[in-house]
Amino acid sequence: MTEIATQHVPISLGERSYTICIGRGLLNRDVFAGLPAGNHALIVTNTQVGPLYAAALRDAIESKFQQVHIIELPDGEGYKNWETLNLVFDALLSARCDRKTTLFALGGGVVGDMTGFAAACYMRGVPFVQVPTTLLSQVDSSVGGKTGINHPMGKNMIGAFYQPLMVVCDIGTLNTLPERELKAGLAEVIKYGPIADMDFLGWLESNMDALLARNAEALAYAIRRSCEIKAMVVGKDERESGLRAILNFGHTFGHAIEAGMGYGRWLHGEAVGCGMVMAAELSAQLELIDGDLLSRVRRLIERAGLPMKGPVLDSTDNAGRYLELMRVDKKADAGAIRYVVVHGSGRATMQAVDDDIVRQVIERCCA
Ligand code: NAD
Ligand code: GLY
Repeated sequence: MTEIATQHVPISLGERSYTICIGRGLLNRDVFAGLPAGNHALIVTNTQVGPLYAAALRDAIESKFQQVHIIELPDGEGYKNWETLNLVFDALLSARCDRKTTLFALGGGVVGDMTGFAAACYMRGVPFVQVPTTLLSQVDSSVGGKTGINHPMGKNMIGAFYQPLMVVCDIGTLNTLPERELKAGLAEVIKYGPIADMDFLGWLESNMDALLARNAEALAYAIRRSCEIKAMVVGKDERESGLRAILNFGHTFGHAIEAGMGYGRWLHGEAVGCGMVMAAELSAQLELIDGDLLSRVRRLIERAGLPMKGPVLDSTDNAGRYLELMRVDKKADAGAIRYVVVHGSGRATMQAVDDDIVRQVIERCCA
């Protein structure tokens, strides 16, 4: 097996700065040595990931805490809600966890977002650590401090900005990830190319087959470069007053797909992949990018095995339904939807677009 050197990506946020560790076999090492000790740790995981990795994580951290508790939540986006979040508070209170308790999020973005939000709320804030185990969570959701849950009327609508103490990405955990989830994670990797780094877009074109084959070196590079770009963006705009919104390329359309289909029917990454096709088509329609870049983005998403056509959400007025759902997006300003568009030089901006233009794009992009 090729040796993969552990890499460290810093995220600079003043007193909230931390490090993202990327490597193989990290759950068996003393990577957690620098964490503050405490009476309690709670590993929050789910019924799928817990049996695979919770014991290894417990062994890795137990010298730092007098008691290590584990809670396994039900698995799936459909459980990213108040009811499930309350199970974490029930576990914390039942075990009499105090303010020096550290929460460990062990799982994908669903577990990570909920655990971070629980940490932000419990006793008005306790420390937490992200141990992401999906590609999507290693390249995106575990980094940057967005935490929260869904509301039936909108995705991720209840939450808080709350940064972890550290992020530990063990690429070895990706070996057990289902194929469909790996592909969904690739959507969030691909987005970093057109929004920030055309060289990375080229690298992805050359290495997509290696990523799909779970080549460890390729995965380590893709995770590191994604985290570097995200760390740069979040370091400049932690609370999304402007720049950070570019990380949502494809997400305005994608969130409409997730909410319109019912959470969990389409994976988040699948909806984002298809949403990026729509956002790239919109950018081309606005003449911000040429046909060549549009084809390159489309081709990468197709090679990653992601859906290329949006679902029909309403057979009488499909575009109207998308627009209605997109107005709930957090980027909307007084009901005006703002879209992340790309400009062809590794640059993205956010802009309002006439509904008629968006309607044309939706009609062209849906099956
Ligand atoms: P997920 O958390 O649902 O995980 C996907 C599936 O893979 C689940 O069934 C999970 O149990 C399973 N799994 C996880 N790790 C595994 C492993 N190593 N081996 C086998 N199975 C494993 O989905 P996700 O794609 O990781 O995350 C999606 C969520 O992330 C969405 O809720 C989305 O809104 C959120 N998100 C948040 C941010 C952010 O900045 N906070 C960014 C992007 C996405
Ligand atoms: N995933 C988008 C963000 O973190 O801002």
